[in-house]
Amino acid sequence: MSFDRIAPHYRWMEWLLAGGKLQRCRTAFISEIPVPREVLMMGEGNGRCLLEMLRAFPSARFVCVDASARMLERARVCVESAGLGASAIEFVHADALDWKPPAACFDLLVSNFFLDCFTADQLGVLVPGLSAAATSDARWLLADFCEPPSGFAKWRARWILRAMYFFFRRVTRLSARSLTPPDALLRRSGFTLCERRLSEWGLLHCDVWRRAAAESPQ
Ligand SMILES: C[S@@+](CC[C@H](N)C(=O)[O-])C[C@H]1O[C@@H](n2cnc3c(N)ncnc32)[C@H](O)[C@@H]1O
Repeated sequence: MSFDRIAPHYRWMEWLLAGGKLQRCRTAFISEIPVPREVLMMGEGNGRCLLEMLRAFPSARFVCVDASARMLERARVCVESAGLGASAIEFVHADALDWKPPAACFDLLVSNFFLDCFTADQLGVLVPGLSAAATSDARWLLADFCEPPSGFAKWRARWILRAMYFFFRRVTRLSARSLTPPDALLRRSGFTLCERRLSEWGLLHCDVWRRAAAESPQ
């Protein structure tokens, strides 16, 4: 699996197919959460969310893990060309399924359009592994696709998701064939859903999850 091939085209393809909708999901809660100290960004891709996080949280330290060297390079260039401090960021080129994060270290986890890359079995390993890297009061910002429960919206989402998986499986050799909602795994790992915003007829969601030990809701 590699997003290297698609990395140079990712931005214009997203703009063409979704305009600013995905970016609105990625950044929806940035101004509403407590200022984090240590941020883990999984599958960050070309750095568009990282850039906004750096602007919002200039004192935080960031670890960005991605299996695509070309995506990581784009993220680095994106941050540097905006004149923001790449020194606060550690870029880690690794497969998330093999990477071993430090325990109980990050008070913010971010995964945007990343968990949808994995099969149910893979998520069953990945989500608990990442949760172990979260502090007891951590938040998890999560944006992704989802399938509405019924009606036209459900069938619309099904066709869009089917086309997307067809495309990404061929171009990136993704092993997932369909979407697995991570909600149950997050709950089992000690996270509670604080807020979910749906958009695009229920096709997109952006969430704030928090560890149960946190005192304030956001
Ligand atoms: C669909 S893209 C999403 C990129 C970005 N987060 C966004 O919001 O557009 C998925 C990203 O996750 C990375 N990725 C996919 N599978 C991965 C894995 N097993 N380990 C690490 N990164 C992975 C890809 O390289 C890619 O950058």
